[in-house]
Amino acid sequence: MKLENPLTGTMVSLDDWWMPFTANRQFKAAPRLLARAEGMYYWTPDGRQILDGTAGLWCINAGHNRKPIVEAVSKQAATMDYAPPFQVGHPVAFEAATAVANVAPAGMRHVFFVNSGSEAADTAIKMALAYHRARGEPSRRIIIGRERGYHGVNVGGTTAGGIPGNRKVWPAMMAGVDHIRSTHDPARNAFSRGMPAHGAEFADELDRLIAFHDASNIAALIVEPMAGSAGVLIPPQGYLEKLAATCRKHGILLIFDEVITGFGRLGTPFAAHYFNITPDILTCAKAINNAAVPLGAVLASDTVHDAIVNGSPEGAIEFLHGYTYSGHPLACAAVVATQKLYVEEQLFDRAREMAPYWEQALHSLKGARHVIDIRNLGLVGGIELEPRAGAAGRRGLEAHIKCFEAGALVRCTADILALSPPLVIDKPQIDRLVETIRAVLQSIE
Ligand SMILES: Cc1ncc(COP(=O)(O)O)c(C=O)c1O
Repeated sequence: MKLENPLTGTMVSLDDWWMPFTANRQFKAAPRLLARAEGMYYWTPDGRQILDGTAGLWCINAGHNRKPIVEAVSKQAATMDYAPPFQVGHPVAFEAATAVANVAPAGMRHVFFVNSGSEAADTAIKMALAYHRARGEPSRRIIIGRERGYHGVNVGGTTAGGIPGNRKVWPAMMAGVDHIRSTHDPARNAFSRGMPAHGAEFADELDRLIAFHDASNIAALIVEPMAGSAGVLIPPQGYLEKLAATCRKHGILLIFDEVITGFGRLGTPFAAHYFNITPDILTCAKAINNAAVPLGAVLASDTVHDAIVNGSPEGAIEFLHGYTYSGHPLACAAVVATQKLYVEEQLFDRAREMAPYWEQALHSLKGARHVIDIRNLGLVGGIELEPRAGAAGRRGLEAHIKCFEAGALVRCTADILALSPPLVIDKPQIDRLVETIRAVLQSIE
């Protein structure tokens, strides 16, 4: 099959791009293509408008193709395309770091740039190991993750993550990783609005693993404060506080993976602000620069940063880690413009103000065909469908495809529909998204 690149007019084949996390054969037989975007919408090559219910992939928080970001990237590309970040620097990366530090949780102003959420997770793990080593506790090497957690696709993140399909294919690639249980508990919490009431005791799992491994061997706990990719799992009330207190008591670093929750998704700069819990290390990516150019970051507390940086002799490279594209000028120009836009348009406040309407609209789907649970927090929603007997995931994928045909982009994780619209969504657009989903669910078996 061939399709036209609308910018160049070139006819291109679908054969050569081996697509990520995609059913390639099925997709290439009936492709869903996007050619253009603006604000809340995509357009297909044949001109059909698609309402973006997922902010791309949880990343276009300011809406698509925002002019200030486009201009900043173009200007930077024309001024200096690339500069090496090892032992040489450039102003825009420092400016971007300050823009991120200005919205970071208190005491977390140290910003280490990477290129993706996956790299952020693996960098955070290495940072935790380096911290304990610098403090004279090199035995602390075990990383604790959580079942159904997602920390990207690199070795550390895949191993610390807990998505069953990923674990089946890529088991235990990194040594010294264990997991606490997921908080998912539909028997007690189905159709909770916001944070579920039951399940703070899931945090006791960490005590169990500490008793098993001994705290002197554990470096860090890595969790998403709100799990997104595994199907929108909202932390129960009191759960994160317990985890944080246990980490603190035993000298275990707490890493929050905020790749999805960072930059206003919950109506605050980070989920750390929303839950009022400050981790030791925080990872972010995606909406950091409205996904205009790939970029991620790891934010370190003063304690972590100072232990590593001041623990090395003057003139030595303190943290032996980094990427060719760390602090890429184009990506950093997009950070500066995006963060400015967030402030000028008060988009985090807007998300917070829109959240009750969003919650009400989503929960109106209770009773819709196939729906067995609905979960929400900030501008995030998860709609869980009953799996078809013997064909788990098929109904979710079919709903995703049918929604696309009906003009709305929703994401599916097995049989869970995940929603995370740009923070600029308005009430009629929320209604349209929900009504599209309702009609699609009614139409599929
Ligand atoms: C919590 C979390 N961590 C890490 C990642 C990986 O990010 P990337 O795909 O940019 O590598 C994701 C991606 O969705 C994520 O949701």
